[in-house]
Parts: sequence; structure tokens; C-alpha cells
Amino acid sequence: MTTLTIYADNDPHTVLAHHDTFEPIRDALASIGVEFERWQANQPLSPTATPEEVMAAYQEAIDALKQKYGFVTVDVVSMHPDHPQAEVARGKFLAEHTHSDFETRFFVDGSGAFYIRSGGKVYMTVCTRGDLINLPANTTHWFDMGPKPTFKAIRFFRIADGWVGNFTGDTIAERFPLYEAAA
Ligand SMILES: [Fe+2]
Repeated sequence: MTTLTIYADNDPHTVLAHHDTFEPIRDALASIGVEFERWQANQPLSPTATPEEVMAAYQEAIDALKQKYGFVTVDVVSMHPDHPQAEVARGKFLAEHTHSDFETRFFVDGSGAFYIRSGGKVYMTVCTRGDLINLPANTTHWFDMGPKPTFKAIRFFRIADGWVGNFTGDTIAERFPLYEAAA
């Protein structure tokens, strides 16, 4: 289930707000400049669909987003618990960081948790199938794909190395609930 849990950034033990329906999640994220949408596939999609089939199923929504923000590259990534790099992949963006490009992900399947830090609060957003999340460049955040990472996601890029993490050095992520606490 898609959820948004909001904490003060200095108190990971007190939930300030919790939402599990679309509009409140969209509105709360919009208030900090993060876009959140739900997309429908325009054709049935099997779990084993190729990247080309995935793109075709969401072609109109992909084109609209590319047009709106000038995304140049779009690809499809998958992660599963048996992937040899699953643990390494989880650790990669588990500490607080920013990017010089948008971090834009559409969850074709599976799930993952974005933790967005803004205005003294942390917005823990668990994204699931059908969710699009769009973090503008320089948004402070971290991402937890959980101990058994499972997702297929469409990624959007404007610049070649925009996905590189600029780590803040703050250990805040270690103090907040892991993905599995919300799953
Ligand atoms: Fe990131």
C-alpha cells in the first residue's frame, strides 16, 4: 500500500501525520515541491514484460512527462531479492543525499521508500505499483528498497550523470524507520 508518514526531522519516534490515500499524499508532497501521480497502463502488462513493452504501456504518460520537464533519457530498471547485487544496491542510496538532476521514478511493479527532508520534516513515502514520484534537483532525500528489494521502475533523466549522489554526510537516515517498518 502506498503510504506517507511525516515526522519532525529531529524526532523519528513521533508520527506527525500518516496518509494512505492518494489525494492527501499528493497534496502533502506538492506542498514541498514533490510531484506525485498515479498512472494507469493503457494495455495489460505481464510481470515478465520487456522494457519496450513497459514503455509502450505507459507511452502517453511518459511522453507528457518528457515534454513537461525536458527529460532526454528514459529507461526501465528491475530489482529482485535474489539479485547478486541486491544488498549493495540497497546500501547505495541509503544515506542522505541530493542529485543535480530530477529523481523521477514510476513504479511499474513492486515498491520502495523515499525519505524526503524538507522544512524540518521527513516525508517517508512508500511508493507501490502505479505511483510516479518526481523529486526536483537538489531535493534532500534517501531511498530504501528494503531487505528483499522488489521493483520494476521507469527512470527519467535530463543529464547523463545526474543520478550521482551528492552525500550530505548527515547520519539522519540511520535514526529513521527502515522500509520494512512501514511495509
Ligand atoms: Fe536519490
